[in-house]
Amino acid sequence: MEYISLNNFINMPIIGFGTWDVRGKFGERIILNALECGYRLIDTAQMYKNEDIVGNAIVQSSIDRSEIFIITKLDLNSNSYHKAQAAIESSLNRLQSNYIDLVLIHEPYSQALQMYEALKDGLLKQKIRAIGVSNFSQQFYAKFIQYCGIIPAVNQVESHIYYPQFKLQEYLDKYGTKMQSWGPLTSKTYNLSTEPLLKHLAHKYACSEAMIALRYLTQNKIAIIPKSTSIEHMQQNLASLDFDIEDNDLKLLANLNTNKSLFNWYD
Ligand SMILES: NC(=O)c1ccc[n+]([C@@H]2O[C@H](COP(=O)([O-])OP(=O)(O)OC[C@H]3O[C@@H](n4cnc5c(N)ncnc54)[C@H](OP(=O)(O)O)[C@@H]3O)[C@@H](O)[C@H]2O)c1
Repeated sequence: MEYISLNNFINMPIIGFGTWDVRGKFGERIILNALECGYRLIDTAQMYKNEDIVGNAIVQSSIDRSEIFIITKLDLNSNSYHKAQAAIESSLNRLQSNYIDLVLIHEPYSQALQMYEALKDGLLKQKIRAIGVSNFSQQFYAKFIQYCGIIPAVNQVESHIYYPQFKLQEYLDKYGTKMQSWGPLTSKTYNLSTEPLLKHLAHKYACSEAMIALRYLTQNKIAIIPKSTSIEHMQQNLASLDFDIEDNDLKLLANLNTNKSLFNWYD
């Protein structure tokens, strides 16, 4: 497993498993499959309403808790210091753990600083190992770090071959925040297997188009959390770390960048 070292020296797996829209008993089985395939980072959120099945799957896996990196996120329902404090306790209960590896503020809410104070408390009390943000554009991030006290370890944002957000990554790097991609396979907005350059490179490197799209991000030091319901895809996505794309091909892939969000989140 490749890791990214966070600004408080905690190591985070560069690839994790996304759980958006993964629910119920079927969802629990999917998360267990991911752990059995070798994923050691699970990304959840209070908004996904599935922290309970993440907790169940981890317990069922019998993998030592210390080997698994859990990310969760607080949403607008926790829009004050006290609500955020209570939300952290609820997440700990649902995840059946006495700590969470990384807790993020899900979006740049106007109460984000107050919510962040509760995350900082969680750090002090060792209930949380690292804290960060999600969906913060450069503008929001720049303002936030003037007042937040502890620089976010991670900013989880939309990032994929069509909109990698390298400029944002460069800016975050200057302050010690690592970028993590959500939607690394475009959240199924595009069928990547029909993209001619990806097809060509998949043939050249004897892998799938999705693996090229994911490796492009990790070779550029962007952490990824692809989601899949299929064991074959889960395995492929993990195996995307097992080869390197040559520099000239990375340059070709850079031409796919449209500099435009697919979801109009950061415009
Ligand atoms: N912070 C935020 O605001 C935010 C927003 C969105 C998402 N997220 C997080 O990021 C995670 C990933 O994003 P996402 O779930 O939206 O989308 P994604 O990971 O970009 O794409 C998931 C889709 O790709 C398909 N897929 C996965 N591996 C594949 C492969 N090797 N070949 C072909 N198709 C493949 C999956 O279908 P199959 O099931 O058929 O494999 C699934 O439909 C989420 O699950 C969530 O944890 C965070």
